[in-house]
Amino acid sequence: MPDIRLEATINGRKITRNAKPHQRLLDFLRDDLNLTGNKEGCGAGECGTCSVFVDGVLMKSCLLPVAKAQGAQIETIESLAKTGELSLLQKAFHKAGASQCGYCIPGMVMAATAAIRANPFADREEIKERLGGNICRCTGYQKIFDAVEMARDVQNGRLPATIFSEVEAEQGDYIGKNVRSIDAPSKVTGRLKYAGDMTMPGMLHVQVLRSPHPHARIVSIDTAAAETMAGVEGVITSADVPGEDGFGVIVNDQPVMARGKVRYVGEAVAAVAAEDLLTAKRALAAIEVVYERLPAVFDPDEAMRAGAPVLHDYAPDNITKHIPIRVGDVEKGFAESDLVVKEAYSTQAIEHAYLEPEAGLAYVDHDGVVTIVSPDQNITHHRHMLARIIAKPIAKVRFIMSPVGGGFGGKTDMIYQGMLALLAMKTQRPVRLVFTREESIISTAKRHPSRTRLRMGLMRDGRIRVLEMTMVCDGGAYGLSTGNVVHKAAVLAAGPYVIPNIKVDTYGIYTNNTPSGAFRSFGALQAAFATESHLDICAERLGLDPFQIRRINAMRDGAVTHTRQKLGSVSLSRVLDAAEKVSGWEAGAPVSRGDRRSDLDRDDIRPPCALGARFAAADKQEAAE
Ligand code: FES
Repeated sequence: MPDIRLEATINGRKITRNAKPHQRLLDFLRDDLNLTGNKEGCGAGECGTCSVFVDGVLMKSCLLPVAKAQGAQIETIESLAKTGELSLLQKAFHKAGASQCGYCIPGMVMAATAAIRANPFADREEIKERLGGNICRCTGYQKIFDAVEMARDVQNGRLPATIFSEVEAEQGDYIGKNVRSIDAPSKVTGRLKYAGDMTMPGMLHVQVLRSPHPHARIVSIDTAAAETMAGVEGVITSADVPGEDGFGVIVNDQPVMARGKVRYVGEAVAAVAAEDLLTAKRALAAIEVVYERLPAVFDPDEAMRAGAPVLHDYAPDNITKHIPIRVGDVEKGFAESDLVVKEAYSTQAIEHAYLEPEAGLAYVDHDGVVTIVSPDQNITHHRHMLARIIAKPIAKVRFIMSPVGGGFGGKTDMIYQGMLALLAMKTQRPVRLVFTREESIISTAKRHPSRTRLRMGLMRDGRIRVLEMTMVCDGGAYGLSTGNVVHKAAVLAAGPYVIPNIKVDTYGIYTNNTPSGAFRSFGALQAAFATESHLDICAERLGLDPFQIRRINAMRDGAVTHTRQKLGSVSLSRVLDAAEKVSGWEAGAPVSRGDRRSDLDRDDIRPPCALGARFAAADKQEAAE
């Protein structure tokens, strides 16, 4: 289709430009006019990071074809501080500390501007309502609402404008003070460049071909047609890796692109660098991959069974990592206990859903240094791994960490930087890859789903005698952080409690699911969820207050953990006091939320959940054998 001739007024300036008819307004602003302040978070009208004004109306520019902007007045985030001075709302966002990673903030500022324009006296509830189309993943929203209220009040004369020039802390006096973030101005104005905002002269665009199968042998990959397409500058597969093809955190089991077989849907198989995105996408379609499908396994319990499909030759039992911990005499502990409570707990996979999808730019500099710019949360480790993968001395590999638009641990893994390096080396041109939201969800690591069987023996007075825990974590197709996750889960299995007899086994298991990886508090959450939920159940069964049972078993200063770590100061008692006070929990209040029971039958199990029923059946069978 021929280009259209677009005439519009953008941030007060008339422009006349050719534009592609299929182009979204967001791409036109970002790619053609280099107005990168407004971001792409989802590309589907859900997150609001791309919000702009079109003829004064707040609109999501990812949903608007550029042709619809013909003759329109468009305002982007860049229009708000055009003279160099921040707008009232931008000042308020800075003052209130309302920008964290900053990626959603330009869209949020635009939505807040619309809210205050629509109703200069909007109360907090109305502000929340009006900002409902914008998502933030870091701040918890409260500071954003505070900022909008602050701007409203300054505008209405209820607060002095001098509030914005107040100095919160003097040099050297920062502890315990609210200190303004020095990078906030660049975030509230959209000036901060994330990797997906960056360009270089001669830059190529990268697209990745991904596996449609969870488990399959790669019979052949034919890239000939793609390589000869006009505009295509480079196509790579695992055959282009010159060094040791493997990355990870504990075990380097993941190739840069699938080598020999694919192990999950979404795994990278090949990548293309082309003059433009559309050509790169067309080239992907021209790559022919012949697969031979293999049996797949998606359940970690099934993956541990004999005869299950094996993902990696080095781990015939599909176990990535097993952490066993033994303390005291567990059997004796159960024999001595007045009450034994057994239960099963499960936690699910969670997507990080940072507003900034993965992106990166790579080039080979004038000294032949392969340089990767990306929101990478672990650049030193990745630099060493990449040097090995591309067979270069470490001095010839450089990682530059771009601003991270939300990470939560999810950008700890080097899942695409290897492809960028290989394409930059092959084409000798800068290359850039920006994930779509779908690509980010389908191909990157999630929080480890877990299943935990927990058996605890207690004395009538609430003292814990013994803990037995078995946790199985679904690590997905590759190791990534699984070893660390199950290690941390084992270390924290007993919580901050004194327990003389302990048996803990945590397992990380390979399956054909999307790999699991680092996510805030990895491993700790899964263990704490099981142990703390279990303590509540035990308290109820013993007729004790949940705070009381924790105080009875709490570690004190100088305690030694089950992994022999001596703790200097333990704040649990103070934390419990504060939690009890803040939550309004009355000491001695009825514990029961339902059928309160204080029977002390040995080996008495609560009505099991579905997983508990499976464990109970397995136990019965074990006992029978
Ligand atoms: Fe447009 Fe999310 S709403 S990028």
